[in-house]
Amino acid sequence: MPKVASPLGGIKSDLLGENALKLTTNACFGVMVIAVVTLTVIAVTYQPPDPWLQPSRFMTKIFTAVENATYQKDGSILITGEDVPGGIVTGAAAPPAISQSDVQAAEELVLSKVTDGVCDPNSMPINCSDPGVMIAIEKANLDKFPDIESFEYGAPVRGSDETECDIAWKFKPKKENSVRMYKDYRRYKLQLEPSCAYAVLDAGDWHSGKNARPQKFHGIDVNDSVPAQIEADDSFRKRKYLYYSRGGDYCKGMSHFQWSLLCALGEAQYLDRTFVLDLDLCLSAASNPGHEDEKVKDFRFYFDFEHLMEAASVIEQKQFLKEWEDWNSRHSGDQITYKVVSDFKVAPTQLQGEESTILWRTFELPEPDNYWYRVCEGEAEKVIQRPWNVLWKSKRLMNIVNSICGSLGWDFDSLHVVRGQKAQNKELWPNLDADTAPEALLQKLKDKIDEKRNVYIATNELQPGYFEQLNASYKVFVLDDFQYLWAPGSEWYSETTALANGQPVEFDGNMRAEVDSEVFMRGKKHVETFGELTFDCKDGVHTCKSS
Ligand SMILES: *[C@@H]1O[C@H](CO)[C@@H](O)[C@H](O)[C@H]1NC(C)=O
Ligand SMILES: *[C@@H]1O[C@H](CO)[C@@H](O)[C@H](O)[C@H]1NC(C)=O
Ligand SMILES: *[C@@H]1O[C@H](CO)[C@@H](O)[C@H](O)[C@H]1NC(C)=O
Ligand SMILES: *[C@@H]1O[C@H](CO)[C@@H](O)[C@H](O)[C@H]1NC(C)=O
Repeated sequence: MPKVASPLGGIKSDLLGENALKLTTNACFGVMVIAVVTLTVIAVTYQPPDPWLQPSRFMTKIFTAVENATYQKDGSILITGEDVPGGIVTGAAAPPAISQSDVQAAEELVLSKVTDGVCDPNSMPINCSDPGVMIAIEKANLDKFPDIESFEYGAPVRGSDETECDIAWKFKPKKENSVRMYKDYRRYKLQLEPSCAYAVLDAGDWHSGKNARPQKFHGIDVNDSVPAQIEADDSFRKRKYLYYSRGGDYCKGMSHFQWSLLCALGEAQYLDRTFVLDLDLCLSAASNPGHEDEKVKDFRFYFDFEHLMEAASVIEQKQFLKEWEDWNSRHSGDQITYKVVSDFKVAPTQLQGEESTILWRTFELPEPDNYWYRVCEGEAEKVIQRPWNVLWKSKRLMNIVNSICGSLGWDFDSLHVVRGQKAQNKELWPNLDADTAPEALLQKLKDKIDEKRNVYIATNELQPGYFEQLNASYKVFVLDDFQYLWAPGSEWYSETTALANGQPVEFDGNMRAEVDSEVFMRGKKHVETFGELTFDCKDGVHTCKSS
């Protein structure tokens, strides 16, 4: 008989009282009987709806694998709300970006104020505070980076010599659906033209404007700390909660976790309840080769908790349990009411009228009946919508993504090369290994990607230098070329260490997949493995869909 203590995760059992214990135990027993009976009758033939089948051709091409989301994704790509066309529906729209006409108007205004009308191109130093300097830089950026939008510039400051100015600005890649903003700072070499306008002679690389680096912009820094405890005495009780105990999803792959979490968040949204979010994840070893199952990974390493808190109603689990307990210890005659639901087949529609403060789903049946996402099957599928828009990738990882794109000048083509286990399994993927070998790739890319282009390869091939041969025709980059972005001393390293209470955090396979996915998508041309590099089927021999 499953014990009620196991899913409590830290809550004291006296919180529940004896009656509750009995009630839950009885309920569990009933469910067990029903479940055993049903299990023998029906086989699990779950087919989650596919959010990717409708959207643009590009998305469809990459993501058809999501159909059997929890099992078949090879883990080398992770889709979140910012990748789904139309996946961003809540939250404020981004403010209008700085446009060509804005800059034009500003320039005319500045030039109209020039009194004597002739300027000396040799006059030094360049006065970085002159309004014309910022305008020239804005103009240069608009020309140089058609794939990013800029929103706000800081004051230019002197660079390393008298011909240079450093400047920081707030931007967003056009290909990112989210409204998150990032910061770049670069060094520009300028000249004063005889017309008294400034001209940019040379623009520095990504993050080259070190003197402008300290400049702060509102809404750029990550702040995903758990909000302090609700102080006002009655406010904890005023909300209604949906609490899912840990189920069989714990220690599964990332896409399984995500599929389950989105189901739970969908139910919370449907029932208009605050979802209790456990920030401690366990992810299976399979998604991080060379490791054991990894307990206690922080949700915030992978996802944007700040955005989740804004876009959905959530409360962090430890805080929730503490507040629950605190309330009950302070109000002995007025305990928080809750209802335990231990059968995933109890549909959300049946719970709509539930008055209890806490609706508590437990998942104690044998696998696969203890997966959260099973709540969203059957009848529930018609009413619950997975709220993709609330789940974005960690901004700390996105900073790495932007640094990579920035280093490639926002101008590169990308290649997704699936190797790993699949390349080794000749029975299911007879040609994959040979088709994705460097010589074969060179041959196949000839008519797809122009010579000398920057090419980013998103791949689960971990052998260093494996794709080196492609450098003969292209400028090839893989994730490991950018190790300095997560190495000790990097921004990511110090921020994640702080999040983990001083423990260094490994840049693991799941994070690699997230970064690879996003860089891949920001490329100009995309070449996929299945269907383009090889005729092997994505899921093994004889599984190709006839189209
Ligand atoms: C989904 O994956 C499971 C487990 O690998 C498999 O048994 C099932 O047949 C798959 N379903 C589809 C529709 O491919
Ligand atoms: C630089 O330009 C600013 C703004 O026009 C002006 O206030 C300042 O006096 C200039 N500095 C020099 C040294 O000319
Ligand atoms: C971070 O956000 C919390 C509220 O969620 C706020 O109390 C805190 O002051 C913020 N910290 C910083 C550094 O902005
Ligand atoms: C290709 O050459 C560049 C230097 O030009 C290097 O940084 C990169 O690591 C090389 N790519 C591979 C896959 O070896």
